[in-house]
Amino acid sequence: MCGIVGYLGNKEAYPILIKGLHRLEYRGYDSAGVALINKNNDLNVYKTRGKVADLEAFAESKDTSGSIGIAHTRWATHGEPNNVNAHPHYSQSETLALIHNGIIENYSVLKKELLSKNYTFSSRTDTEVLIQLIEYIKESNHVDLVTAVQLALGQVVGAYAIAVVEKGNPDLIIAARKSSPLVVGIGDGEYFLASDASPIIEYTDKVIYLDDEEIAIIRRHEEPKITSIENVEKTPQIQQLSMNLSQLEKGGYPHFMLKEIFEQPRTIRDCMSGRVNVEGTHVVLSGILDNKEKFLKAGRIIICACGTSWHAGLIGMYMLEEYCRIPVVIEYSSEFRYRNPVIYPDDIVIAISQSGETADTLAAVELAKSRGAFIYGICNVVGSSISRATHGGSYTHAGPEIGVASTKAFTAQVSVLTLMTLAIGKVKGVISEENYLRITKELQSVPAKMEKTLLLNDQIKEFSKIFTYAKNFIYLGRGYNYPLALEGALKLKEISYIHAEGYPAAEMKHGPIALIDTEMPVVVIATKKGMYEKVVSNIQEIKARKGKVIAIVTEGDEIVKEISDYCIEVPLTEECLVPLVAAIPLQLLAYYIAVTKGRDVDQPRNLAKSVTVE
Ligand code: G6P
Repeated sequence: MCGIVGYLGNKEAYPILIKGLHRLEYRGYDSAGVALINKNNDLNVYKTRGKVADLEAFAESKDTSGSIGIAHTRWATHGEPNNVNAHPHYSQSETLALIHNGIIENYSVLKKELLSKNYTFSSRTDTEVLIQLIEYIKESNHVDLVTAVQLALGQVVGAYAIAVVEKGNPDLIIAARKSSPLVVGIGDGEYFLASDASPIIEYTDKVIYLDDEEIAIIRRHEEPKITSIENVEKTPQIQQLSMNLSQLEKGGYPHFMLKEIFEQPRTIRDCMSGRVNVEGTHVVLSGILDNKEKFLKAGRIIICACGTSWHAGLIGMYMLEEYCRIPVVIEYSSEFRYRNPVIYPDDIVIAISQSGETADTLAAVELAKSRGAFIYGICNVVGSSISRATHGGSYTHAGPEIGVASTKAFTAQVSVLTLMTLAIGKVKGVISEENYLRITKELQSVPAKMEKTLLLNDQIKEFSKIFTYAKNFIYLGRGYNYPLALEGALKLKEISYIHAEGYPAAEMKHGPIALIDTEMPVVVIATKKGMYEKVVSNIQEIKARKGKVIAIVTEGDEIVKEISDYCIEVPLTEECLVPLVAAIPLQLLAYYIAVTKGRDVDQPRNLAKSVTVE
């Protein structure tokens, strides 16, 4: 989703801003722009529809000098992606420029008012309304820019992360946030601003994460000043970033997605590190131990998430019910937050989010908190909004995930949910010692089994070419493999734009079977244990209707191999851990189909990595 970069210091701002925009490309966007103040104090704005490279081409012959600037990648919400709607937006007099992430919900009321004051608008955006409002307040109240921004934000309903610069004022950037992340980086005599830390990391590891309704006043040669919208001064909390630059680069892989698929054995090891003892007999999850009483008393667990995180949550639901004997429900955050759900004080809400910034999940957390529930977060991004809004939690430690289609974050989420299941089951004394030891030990062997599964890369690359003709795919699984079927289908549609549906295998008879013909590829996760025989029957039903079966089976399986068209063998593992290993062929299948079709794998059309608007 939209990205913000800002720079104020002693270097040329433009190359830093452009590099920063490239680092934010993974978030998903459709246009880009930059505003710079040069030595003559002119405020130059350049923006264009398309990629950051298009912006660079557009600005090539222009004056891009100056040591202060703000830059933006836009993911359209109000008004189509075009040059005019791209950010930055000038104010009427062209003395102010603003970039904005989020949505100003009351923009039409504010716009009407400004139209009546003879303000005109060139774009269809809510952002232009905000910069006009700031200018109007500044002019009519005769106040400085900081006060004008504070007063304007006081009138705004909605979500925002903004940055403003002013012509003739090359020493000041004003930034503010509400429900949309913003980080200030503190270098040596220079300051950075970004919607996440990735553009900042190569310059400094000292950052301030703005909280909701906070304003950062960044002046040359001064420490950044943080105030509330009501102008109450706050003490800046300077934190240390733990990311490093190499984590943000492709490391020789053609796409971030492929790199992240191959990183999974390591990310799962990192996720377990310090949490499972060397012998594989003991799980220590401090988030659970620190809140032991809450989990002992829990009457119900509600899992809230979106997208891939929701699929991980569904696997978590199966595990937590099976081994912890606590009733679990799973909710799409966007539905939960708006349907006045019944929440009891002994409910535990588990919010799962890779980015930790998903607007709907954050709102679900706030709602559940306001109703007295205990909130536990499973986030990947350290210091993210959801991780800060929860009462306790466990990080997934998967490292930065850049590919829009989530891969390593998904398996890390499932791993954390497994650790939670083991830890809660133990605390409650409901998991048998046998199950506890067997699953803990087996979880430890998952990274090695993932490594073995990754050796299938060339085989999958080869046969995926066969399926580029397909317009539709069906994915089937039962039990723990059902959420994985949903996730496999999501991966394929996200990056190849082929329509794909995931179904519980037995539900096929209630509708999807009507779609099966010689053209229809059906991916069936038919691993041993669980309901293997029943899945074999489902495959027979597909074959009887001449569907093309791609089966994911356990190594050595002969029965499914015999009846399916294509067979991918994965190592045997514990039933609840199969999704960790079997996710890999599904990710690779989607990846290679998308590559063969020439898709933009890391930044698929219309999608955003971090969905900070509802
Ligand atoms: C977007 C991303 C998905 C992700 C979902 C939830 O749609 O493209 O990959 O699963 O948001 O994001 P979260 O950061 O909350 O896990």
